[in-house]
Amino acid sequence: MPKAIIIEKHGGPEVLKLQDVKVGSPGPNEIKVTNHAIGLNYIDTYHRSGLYPLKLPSGIGLEASGKIDEVGANVKEFNKGDNVAYASVPLGAYSQQRIIPSNIAVKLPDSISHELAATLMTKGLTTNYLLTKTYKLKAGEIVLFHAAAGGVGQIFAQWANSIGAKVIGTVGSDEKIQVAKENGYEHVINYSKVDFSKEVMKITNNEGVSAVFDGVGKKTFKGSILSLKIRGMLVSFGNASGPLDPVNIPKEIQPKGLFLTRPSIGQYFKNRKELQVGANEIFEKVKFGKIKIKISKKYNLGDAKNAHSDLESRKLLGPAIIIP
Ligand SMILES: NC(=O)c1ccc[n+]([C@@H]2O[C@H](COP(=O)([O-])OP(=O)(O)OC[C@H]3O[C@@H](n4cnc5c(N)ncnc54)[C@H](OP(=O)(O)O)[C@@H]3O)[C@@H](O)[C@H]2O)c1
Repeated sequence: MPKAIIIEKHGGPEVLKLQDVKVGSPGPNEIKVTNHAIGLNYIDTYHRSGLYPLKLPSGIGLEASGKIDEVGANVKEFNKGDNVAYASVPLGAYSQQRIIPSNIAVKLPDSISHELAATLMTKGLTTNYLLTKTYKLKAGEIVLFHAAAGGVGQIFAQWANSIGAKVIGTVGSDEKIQVAKENGYEHVINYSKVDFSKEVMKITNNEGVSAVFDGVGKKTFKGSILSLKIRGMLVSFGNASGPLDPVNIPKEIQPKGLFLTRPSIGQYFKNRKELQVGANEIFEKVKFGKIKIKISKKYNLGDAKNAHSDLESRKLLGPAIIIP
């Protein structure tokens, strides 16, 4: 019988339990997939801990890549044997085999392996919408990205560089400075040692950056605002250090006429066609060497709890995957 990680209660990494699961047959608009590689994402820890509450018991994980075993009666766009990847609810990607709605899957080109796809889908789609849709990053601009050596962070600077923009990155340890630089960050600040907003002002001759991409949340929010130039945009897209405190618009946003947005993948890739276009743009960047991916660690499915511990203790030096 296939195995999957199930959580019966919210809590620490120890609530991630490997169990046998019955998979069954796909409904009319579904596909049955054997997963070959699973993406590890920080959002998985929010689902596990209950920061984003779930109806329990629940599977966990948004992202995987695998091969189709069976297609439902109405599914026309896929065939048995196709290689596909996905990065979306319903949760349950931490599994050997599962059934998913066909409209969340994209086809993989031959040039993209399952391991690469599981590393790229969530983090690549996120980067794609952050710098091409939420904020249309242009050549010659300089912006700030927090947690520069992390999964999204590594792709972000490479993509920004490929369009001629420069990125200042922040990292939580000196060990990560080199990792961020290797991924294309022009300046790297260890924000656990120095006030990053002051450093940003020094680097930009007191002007500030035109956009800040902040997936760290609670600890960086105020400094991110201080780092922006007049009419800059704060893109708050995650909360690795905890959820944001309420925002005081007259005090924090009004003085510089800032823009504040809190986006998610689903708002930018609303259907299968948009998802496939967004994914193809990433696959092309990888194919032509504009984005190079180094998987920092691979875990077995039964070790998912160690994967979460490493992610939350900030030990990982880049994107990691789980092999089912
Ligand atoms: N809205 C969306 O569409 C969307 C989609 C994907 C991801 N995200 C968000 O993007 C962010 C990055 O995701 P990811 O999967 O690539 O993770 P990641 O960046 O690989 O890991 C999170 C990083 O956050 C930093 N961090 C700062 N304070 C932390 C704390 N108190 N505890 C733990 N980590 C802390 C750590 O880097 P340092 O040690 O260098 O500080 C850590 O490596 C997350 O916030 C995630 O939720 C949002």
